[in-house]
Amino acid sequence: MTASRERQTVGRAATRNLLTDNPELYEARFPDPERLAGRWAEDCLRRHGAGARVLDMGCGTGRDAARLHGAGRTVTGADLSGAMLAHARVHHPGPAYVRADLHGFDLGRAVFDAVVCLDSSLLYCHTGDQLDGFLASCRHALVPGGLLVAEMRNGAYFLGRTDLLDTPTVDGFTWRGTAYRSTTTLTVDRTAQLLRRVRVWTSDDGAPPLEQCSAWRLLFPLELRHVLAAHGFEVLELHDGPGPRTEPPWREGQLPGTTTDADRLHLVARLTAPR
Ligand SMILES: C[S@@+](CC[C@H](N)C(=O)[O-])C[C@H]1O[C@@H](n2cnc3c(N)ncnc32)[C@H](O)[C@@H]1O
Repeated sequence: MTASRERQTVGRAATRNLLTDNPELYEARFPDPERLAGRWAEDCLRRHGAGARVLDMGCGTGRDAARLHGAGRTVTGADLSGAMLAHARVHHPGPAYVRADLHGFDLGRAVFDAVVCLDSSLLYCHTGDQLDGFLASCRHALVPGGLLVAEMRNGAYFLGRTDLLDTPTVDGFTWRGTAYRSTTTLTVDRTAQLLRRVRVWTSDDGAPPLEQCSAWRLLFPLELRHVLAAHGFEVLELHDGPGPRTEPPWREGQLPGTTTDADRLHLVARLTAPR
């Protein structure tokens, strides 16, 4: 199927997402040639002495799962998107890939030494119940002393700052000969405590414009500490950088920061309570 035809198919299914339904396009739009995200996660796991078994929740295209596999870990990548999982199995082999929902998952008898959750996947837990479901599932899946490593947007960044909000930003790139243009507007929904994104895609291949809506939970550092403690996790690191998506980006050997002010949050927590 051509990208244009796929796009029209996606357009008919309002709940679908152009990038997660087209993983190759996703990787073209968000390139990580140095595998910084996977390397950063590996660095966190190594510094805190995690065992080999890792679950990558919201693994997307499988890039980070494969990087962790390449570092010698036994990795399971989990995602809700069938397209992402299919892509991961072909293009980033090594890990096992399974379908699972962040909001509550049970991978049977499998146990893990760490759960990683990168690029704001955790913020698809929009409600308190979904966040509780995620952390309860992590607790069930982890060995005592297991780690949760996550990297996401920082809700606190939007307290008093509007530089990323309300004004459309236009971005463009070419993939397989088609020029794509996205116009993206972020708004804060204070009632739902969500950062909402409306993105309109156009391209020069004759496909009609496609509007897609998504949202991330606006999660604040102290709120995150509280909910982690309630689920038996001790926070080892919580900071705004350096990380794989900060500017400047994290480099090997750099230590975690101490503030939670900038627009990304980096978390390492240890399960201290029994499963
Ligand atoms: C922004 S992408 C991040 C992918 C990958 N972690 C990375 O860093 O490249 C978010 C991923 O979360 C997945 N996702 C969204 N909601 C989910 C849910 N409820 N359960 C599992 N995965 C989910 C999407 O399919 C997508 O692959």
